[in-house]
Amino acid sequence: MSKIVEQLEEKREAARMGGGQKRIDAQHKKGKLTARERINVLLDEGSFEEFDMYVEHGCVDFGMEETKILGDGVVTGSGTINGRLIYVYSQDFTVFGGSLSENHAKKICKLMDNAMKVGAPIIGINDSGGARIQEGVASLGGYAEVFQRNVLASGVVPQISLIMGPCAGGAVYSPAMTDFIFMVKDSSYMFVTGPDVVKTVTNEVVTQEELGGATTHTSKSGVADNAYDNDIEALLAARDFFDFLPENNRSEHPERPTGDDAMREIPSLDTIIPDNANQPYDMHEIIKKTVDEEDFFEVQPDHAGNIIIGFGRIEGRTVGIIANQPMVLAGCLDINASKKAGRFVRFCDAFGIPIVTFVDVPGFLPGTSQEYGGIIKHGAKLLFAYGEATVPKITIITRKAYGGAYDVMASKHLRGDLNYAWPSAEIAVMGAKGAVEIIFRSDIGDDKKIAARTAEYEDRFANPFIAAQKGFIDDIIHPHNTRKRIALGLRKLRNKQLENPWKKHDNIPL
Ligand code: HXC
Repeated sequence: MSKIVEQLEEKREAARMGGGQKRIDAQHKKGKLTARERINVLLDEGSFEEFDMYVEHGCVDFGMEETKILGDGVVTGSGTINGRLIYVYSQDFTVFGGSLSENHAKKICKLMDNAMKVGAPIIGINDSGGARIQEGVASLGGYAEVFQRNVLASGVVPQISLIMGPCAGGAVYSPAMTDFIFMVKDSSYMFVTGPDVVKTVTNEVVTQEELGGATTHTSKSGVADNAYDNDIEALLAARDFFDFLPENNRSEHPERPTGDDAMREIPSLDTIIPDNANQPYDMHEIIKKTVDEEDFFEVQPDHAGNIIIGFGRIEGRTVGIIANQPMVLAGCLDINASKKAGRFVRFCDAFGIPIVTFVDVPGFLPGTSQEYGGIIKHGAKLLFAYGEATVPKITIITRKAYGGAYDVMASKHLRGDLNYAWPSAEIAVMGAKGAVEIIFRSDIGDDKKIAARTAEYEDRFANPFIAAQKGFIDDIIHPHNTRKRIALGLRKLRNKQLENPWKKHDNIPL
């Protein structure tokens, strides 16, 4: 018995050492933590329970039978973040470059199956050279098994990917199907083909960082959500982020006790809208002042800045916030903004998170690049997402709500539950200048007449009254009461019941 215990300790120690001290040192030299160190930062101290520590690969080609390392390049198990259950896998780059073998994949799949069984979120820490080359198609099959589980888990338990090293080839598609992706600057990258292949095929010369680094994916492509300076920052951010999320699509939401009075007035919001309707202001300020303790976790802050998305809390309960940002492109909806916000709305809806929308939108961005890029289809994504969402939806129009974008941004017509407007709201088909130039075209050239027509149009439409007369707006509220009215609304809507017609699934314009 004691011999077995001794062997057990030896095996455990061997597994903990992964690919050995030399490779651990190399990992540290690159500024990266090891797979286990990452788990230790991510989870509550001492909460990690590992499984499948003694799994080895089954490959007998290329002399692989001589090189077996316990754990086979991925550490899997469960633990807690601030007391709540989470399943986690962490690829160990010190073992065959974290590459995915058949058995490595089986460990991840087992973890995902277990998480699904109990309804717990999954965090995957990716640091891998991709398919284990020596295992060939067995490894490809392993990837596909993981992909299939990503699909089935989508909308059932939250899935988060932390990219902390290479993630290349088809391997990128597992993170791509998860709900959120965080990356680390200068040490992680994602691409379907690396710089060498790019050079051969397209003659482009590009570095790994330019092609698929954290900055590229969180600003240009929008593939990843947030970028951090190092592993520790990314892991600590993931902990904070996790606190906003429910465990699964049927679970109660986490509730964080707060001393921030839900009825708190915010006097500064009464003067935040500039007198000149074309002057921008920072929508972040409205969001931050509205949520509990100014704690707003912004998602994709560096991509499509004309729309802001993220999580906050009201009375301790998570809300998803979507807001046009007048500081960027005047808050227009464009392709990237529509995709960014559309996916976020769907995440919130899938997990029962109420949606609060702040609207200041002059319309869709015009132009050939938008039309050729398919703004019609992409804009429809956001429209579709809002229209199908059955979670509580509260909308506050702070200033402009023009044209189709008025409809899209959680309007009453898309089953908005509570639609409020500030007195500064302007709800119309378009701005005064554009409207006058169309309906009074014959007056163009006569500046006096145009000025009079513009003033007339502004008088009639640059206010929230017509929409309120029609019941499209439930109330015109003082800006300082915004937090209070949202909180009261959310209390009322807590037991909201609304179901869409039965269908196998919808056909959102992809
Ligand atoms: C087996 C691998 C491996 C792999 C790395 N290693 N990638 N072993 N299969 N895919 C091993 C190396 O042999 C080395 O072992 C150790 O991991 C570290 O690798 P290095 O090359 O020394 O590290 P580094 O210089 O940091 O470069 C990392 C790397 C590079 C950029 C990831 O290793 C690389 O290009 N690897 C191949 C990537 C690749 O083409 N993968 C297949 C992609 S296709 P030792 O013993 O020396 O420490 C794919 C398809 C997925 O993944 C399809 C899904 C549908």
